Parts: sequence; structure tokens; C-alpha cells
Amino acid sequence: MDDTALIAAAREAARNSWSPYSSFPVGAALLFADGRVVTGTNIENASYGLALCAETVAVAKAMGEGRRGGLVAVAVTGPGEDPITPCGRCRQVLHELAALGGTDPRVLCVGPDIVRETTLSALLPRAFGPESLG
Ligand code: THU
Repeated sequence: MDDTALIAAAREAARNSWSPYSSFPVGAALLFADGRVVTGTNIENASYGLALCAETVAVAKAMGEGRRGGLVAVAVTGPGEDPITPCGRCRQVLHELAALGGTDPRVLCVGPDIVRETTLSALLPRAFGPESLG
């Protein structure tokens, strides 16, 4: 699975976004070491504060299937010109899954024309995680 395919999976996921309140569809695609991809999209609610972000939905799907680590890359797409980065809560949620497998996933923040690549540890330095609990 190359970056282009991972990005396409995130874009495809965003097509299922339920975001009538923000009109801000987001797609996320998680790549695992075994080559599998798990996607997610944001799911909003008439009770606005209950919105679920795309990355969090993707992590919940993956962990709900039994995955506990192996996260090597994440692609995130938003609707605007500028690539978006995962929100703070999603960084923490992604860290839990990544830390369980001891990886520091690449994070691809995808706009229509550019891809900004970073890492989860750069987005969430000195993270609190499962290892912090002793
Ligand atoms: N959103 C995500 O899905 N991921 C992020 O990292 C940032 C924000 C969603 C939440 C909400 O449905 C919409 O984008 C506007 O904030």
C-alpha cells in the first residue's frame, strides 16, 4: 500500500461523513504493518458536542476488530485548501493504539494539492500513554 492509495482511502471514507452541522467532512485512513487499512469519517450529532472525529472513528473500528498496535501511517483529509492536522483528542486516541505496538506512525495531512507529512510523536510530544501508568 503506497501513500497514494492510503490517501485515496481517506478521501473515499470522507464521502460517508455525517457532518450536516459543520459541513466539514473529514476522512481518515490507518495503515497497519500487515498492509490492512481501516478507515473512518466524522459522525456528527444534533447534540453538537457529541461529534466523533474521523480519526477517532477509525481507531475505534480498528481496536473493535481486535487490533492492538501495528499502526504505521495515518492519512487525514479535510474539505478545505489547507491540509488539516488531527485535533488534540484524536492525537491522544491515535497514540494509545500506536503505543500498544511501539510504533511512531507517519501522519499524512492531505489537501487537494499538497501533502504535509509529520509523525505522531511530533504532533504529540511527551505523550501520556499506557506506559505512563506503570
Ligand atoms: N474533525 C475531525 O473529524 N477530525 C479532526 O481532527 C478535526 C475535526 C471533525 C469534527 C467535526 O465533525 C468537524 O470536523 C468540524 O470540527
